[in-house]
Amino acid sequence: MSSTRQVDSSNAEQARAWDGEEGTYWPEHADRFDRAVHAHHAHLLAAAAISATDQVLDIGCGTGQTTRDAARRASRGRAVGVDLSAAMLRRARRRAAAEGLPNAEFVQADAQVHPFPAAVFDVAVSRSGTMFFADPVAAFRNIAGALGPGGRLVQMVWQPPAGNEWFLSLTRALAAGRPLPTPPPDAPGPFALARASRRS
Ligand SMILES: C[S@@+](CC[C@H](N)C(=O)[O-])C[C@H]1O[C@@H](n2cnc3c(N)ncnc32)[C@H](O)[C@@H]1O
Repeated sequence: MSSTRQVDSSNAEQARAWDGEEGTYWPEHADRFDRAVHAHHAHLLAAAAISATDQVLDIGCGTGQTTRDAARRASRGRAVGVDLSAAMLRRARRRAAAEGLPNAEFVQADAQVHPFPAAVFDVAVSRSGTMFFADPVAAFRNIAGALGPGGRLVQMVWQPPAGNEWFLSLTRALAAGRPLPTPPPDAPGPFALARASRRS
């Protein structure tokens, strides 16, 4: 049962997963997950160009590496990580405290509908956290309302399956010649924002 308050009914399945089994597995393997995206992480942070006074929103922050690195850069501002998973946020809070980052804050919420204060953030970042919205238009509108004038969104999302050699190799090996189930195009999940036209 999800413990997240104010989850939109359209995101109930994601909340059940991330605030359930997925949310238990990820914190136990957080360092491994962080290492897996290490090369991309640096590009995300460079693109975000966070300044010392910025107010940063991290969407789908998980165990919080991006939030912590944003908080280090926004040393006179703050970074707020938002996620569906109580367990992942517990790990995020522990790590931020251990690393001496009082300006890293964490909120358990559905970013699609959470009543963020209006126009307070300078930049919103997301490392693989924005592909799971059931209603991306509502979610990005909600996030846009939290960004101040000139605010920007920098997100890391997956390319289509054809551009992910390791994904295809693994799924083909597991399928062992059987037809692969194909999720509906643009369904919430890793490839939801893979098409460039979905992000513009
Ligand atoms: C693939 S994980 C990425 C976690 C983290 N950003 C990282 O890079 O390690 C996706 C995260 O998005 C979160 N998420 C999915 N839908 C969300 C929503 N509607 N609101 C807030 N967080 C969400 C999940 O709980 C999960 O932690």
